[in-house]
Amino acid sequence: MLNKNVHIFDTTLRDGEQVPGCKLNTEQKLIIAEQLDFLGVDIIEAGFPVSSPGDFKSVEAISKLIKHATVCGLTRSVENDIKVAAEALKYAKKPRIHTGIGTSDSHIQFKFKSTREDILKRAYDAVKYAKSFVEDVEFYAEDAGRTDNEFLARVCETVIKAGATVLNIPDTTGYCLPHEYGAKIKYLRENVKGIDKAILSCHCHNDLGLATANSIEGVINGARQIECTINGIGERAGNTALEEVVMILKQHPYLNLDTNIKTEMLYGISHLVSDSMGIYTQPNKAIVGANAFAHSSGIHQDGVIKNRETYEIIDPKDVGVTESSIVLTARSGRAALAYRAKNIGFELTKLQLDEIYSTFLEFADKKKEVDDSDIHQIIESSKVYKEIISA
Ligand code: KIV
Ligand code: ZN
Repeated sequence: MLNKNVHIFDTTLRDGEQVPGCKLNTEQKLIIAEQLDFLGVDIIEAGFPVSSPGDFKSVEAISKLIKHATVCGLTRSVENDIKVAAEALKYAKKPRIHTGIGTSDSHIQFKFKSTREDILKRAYDAVKYAKSFVEDVEFYAEDAGRTDNEFLARVCETVIKAGATVLNIPDTTGYCLPHEYGAKIKYLRENVKGIDKAILSCHCHNDLGLATANSIEGVINGARQIECTINGIGERAGNTALEEVVMILKQHPYLNLDTNIKTEMLYGISHLVSDSMGIYTQPNKAIVGANAFAHSSGIHQDGVIKNRETYEIIDPKDVGVTESSIVLTARSGRAALAYRAKNIGFELTKLQLDEIYSTFLEFADKKKEVDDSDIHQIIESSKVYKEIISA
């Protein structure tokens, strides 16, 4: 019987950091890792220790620092990678080695110039070797999204026999459709002997904009770990966005799936990551974008001012945003102008509002957005200014 808790495996510092030009130094990684721990992620993938001395040092330093989360290091199915990862993780309270190999025919044929039987052996040996250092060993079947399900099931059975505790099923190229990815997870749950000994994990890339949808289909079909990054950063079109999957599960309680994430920290950590990496977050980004809780059309503004829930499905405070914003543009109506004027101390009557609204529209047609100082200027230069301030 599956429980309702979905583990959040954050890979901002490994897969996320693979974004060109976004390299972080150890100090920056430590700050982010500590915030991820406070956020409540279950696993922090701290890096790929064999890849460089800098990455080794970061994984080691994060292992020493982190109090609650499991700290994980990536390896290929190569003995030296695994030995080096174990060394970097030796101070972690809860260490995990994440090892794996490509399993799709294209990886086997072109990358490894090998055979399925050889891949099974290499996978088994890698997990067995990793188990000689740590109890918690996650196996990734790279390009599982394009791996034939029957062979993938054999890979999973093989690594469970070697002691794998987590089976990562990456859609490495972001190719799968949500129903296909969900069906893959269901197939593995129904056809892999010993599947109850391991947790299935979703690791979905966003090449077709489907990473979040695929991860959600994965957990609906029995996976209990999602691998994701803050703001969805990562190679190419990025990874599954942590804030999106967490809020989907929170906003749809009937799915009966839960995480340990303190959602009020999401907005702050999104800024920390984008500032540290120098990657700007698109304004329309779900949950954490600058416009995620901004309303600019008159019809929407009128609704939100009357009751926030008319146009918002998330309370901004739940993700750490102080309040929804009413943005004044040429599409705004009188309700929005009155609301914003009141916020800066001008309580307008209906007649006063009628008087300044046309000036406001002329202003808004010239400017993209009317700010508080513009509202001051519009009111102060109006015929009704004296009447407003003497009220
Ligand atoms: O996308 C992928 O397949 C990966 C693995 C290395 C886990 O990042
Ligand atoms: Zn990846």
